[in-house]
Amino acid sequence: MKARIVTLPGDGVGPEVTAAAVAVLKTVAARYEHVFAFEQQLIGGIAIDATGEPLPAAALAACQSADAVLLGAVGGPQWSDPNAPVRPEQGLLALRAALGVYANLRPLQVHPALANLSPLKNDKLKHVDVLFVRELTGGAYFGAKTRSADAATDECRYTVAEIERVVRRAFELARGRRHHVTSVDKANVLETSRLWRSTVQRIAADYPDVKLEHQLVDSMAMLLLTRPNRYDVVVTENLFGDILTDEAAALAGSLGLLPSASLGDGRRGLYEPIHGSAPDIAGQGVANPIGAILSAALLLRHSLGLEAEAVAVESAVEQVLRHGPHSRDIGGSAGTDEVRDAVIAAIDDHADTAAAFFAGARACG
Ligand code: NAD
Ligand code: IPM
Ligand code: MN
Repeated sequence: MKARIVTLPGDGVGPEVTAAAVAVLKTVAARYEHVFAFEQQLIGGIAIDATGEPLPAAALAACQSADAVLLGAVGGPQWSDPNAPVRPEQGLLALRAALGVYANLRPLQVHPALANLSPLKNDKLKHVDVLFVRELTGGAYFGAKTRSADAATDECRYTVAEIERVVRRAFELARGRRHHVTSVDKANVLETSRLWRSTVQRIAADYPDVKLEHQLVDSMAMLLLTRPNRYDVVVTENLFGDILTDEAAALAGSLGLLPSASLGDGRRGLYEPIHGSAPDIAGQGVANPIGAILSAALLLRHSLGLEAEAVAVESAVEQVLRHGPHSRDIGGSAGTDEVRDAVIAAIDDHADTAAAFFAGARACG
């Protein structure tokens, strides 16, 4: 197939991990006979420095006409003055809003080879397989903001329609998994959470085959650490989802491992690792590219419909996590490029095995 993919490497380790993910996609294209055209655009601090804006019009237009967008990370200390008129993160928020990608899927699994890196005891980490569905284009992130010399406000606003579409997506996804949804809110305090909870309760009636539970976000933060293997699909609002998924990354062993897919109603999606620009390690060639590479796998699955290719990338990553090489954040000493090359080699092995299998099947048939 032919696909147009816009890349937004951004800041800090963003360009390093995005380059690795693009190399993986190029390998997939070559091995499976697809034509992927890549177009690189500016976002974040690097875009502010070049154009004054965190999401230049040309970058947004390219994303809006692409089949999929692959993003690295935005932000960094040089753009983080709390009084700055414009910030890199605004570019990312504007992009999510403009693409209408309201459902942010953040899968969490704990690889047995990395269980020792988690702060938890190993037995708690068996069979951890959670899909977080984070609402991405509403809440305090997008409400009205005010700031005066001695006060500031961030309005947290949700409409029923905004809640309904992301919650329906969560229930649909649960049907393809273990038929269990945990809805996380703060309904004991927040009005937006009470609207959230009553909307979830109403929608749940359309999914009698899916078991629903509600959990308050503060106790959820604790339960995620004490019994992570109890959860299947966890759906929550924007800010709670942001915080809980970084917490969840600690279970996996590193923030550098977790991918995400941001989806709207159509096929076009935005794919990015959940980590940030990691200024403390940027430019050293040591960032873990696995979160970005797994995001590329999600791109293959959700925007291009290439399930076998997505699985090939995920199996390759699984092999590399099992046998190494491992980057520094997960206890190894490999650089970004070494991990990338190992994943690519594993994809090649996988494709060779499949080709041999089909050649064998043809010879027999
Ligand atoms: P961060 O995610 O950048 O880093 C947190 C810690 O995790 C650091 O110690 C970092 O070295 C480590 N880490 C992150 N990614 C890693 C990787 N791939 N390999 C190995 N280690 C990795 O969070 P932060 O330091 O709080 O934020 C830095 C900047 O990134 C901020 O400006 C923030 O706004 C931005 N940010 C951007 C995104 C995004 O673009 N989607 C996401 C989160 C944070
Ligand atoms: C993420 C990041 C972003 C968010 C920031 C950079 C705007 O933390 O993608 O998780 O809070 O959504
Ligand atoms: Mn975050």
